[in-house]
Amino acid sequence: MSMVKIIIDGKKLEVPEGMTVLEAAAQAGITIPTLCYHKDLSPHGGCRLCVVEVKGARTSLASCTLPVSDGMEVTTESPALRESRRTILQLLLSTYHDAGYASKDGHFNELEHWARAYDLDPASLMARAPRYPINSDPNPFVWVDLNKCILCGRCIRACAEVQGRFVWGLSERGYDTRIVAGMDETMLEARCESCGACVAYCPTGALDNKPSVSAGAPDKVVTTTCAYCGVGCQFDLH
Ligand code: FES
Repeated sequence: MSMVKIIIDGKKLEVPEGMTVLEAAAQAGITIPTLCYHKDLSPHGGCRLCVVEVKGARTSLASCTLPVSDGMEVTTESPALRESRRTILQLLLSTYHDAGYASKDGHFNELEHWARAYDLDPASLMARAPRYPINSDPNPFVWVDLNKCILCGRCIRACAEVQGRFVWGLSERGYDTRIVAGMDETMLEARCESCGACVAYCPTGALDNKPSVSAGAPDKVVTTTCAYCGVGCQFDLH
């Protein structure tokens, strides 16, 4: 495997050719903010939160889709990048509405996490009223609240790439763009298997765990063997 030499935030690194700048930075312990990116999924480059400055480039570039090249010099934080990220987060929050329904797992809301990290107050910036019905799908397992969807596409890629299913897609254009199941049907009509991959990869809780939203998350760790087999996958149910 051939290696390339790059500099990220003053750190000299030697990384494999073909790696992205985001992956190289992570390997060096540098966190670049992301929303549409997930390490298990193909990069999408849609949200632009991960933009970085590259010496010699005329514009900032999305690090999640940018391959490293020999001699590259990258800056991941600067006043201009900070302003750019704050603008992106404000725009995302302007169409985001959180009515307060969420599972208490607390690990879905990456949007609010990054907003706070860039000194933004999600509550004061988010849309005042919902645009879509809350809990809009009748399936028994997945809570659907499109008011919290930021169109990152992680649910679509998780369904297709992790599970080999094609339940989720996009419909409409521009401001009206939204995720839809199948041909704008219910999830079960679109042949959803209720595997929960879309929930696990959703960064905002637009897709959430319906029983957990309704009943609240369990407050203790349980190791169990379920009724489907005798192997015992030992999921941590917490
Ligand atoms: Fe790179 Fe969204 S995380 S563009």
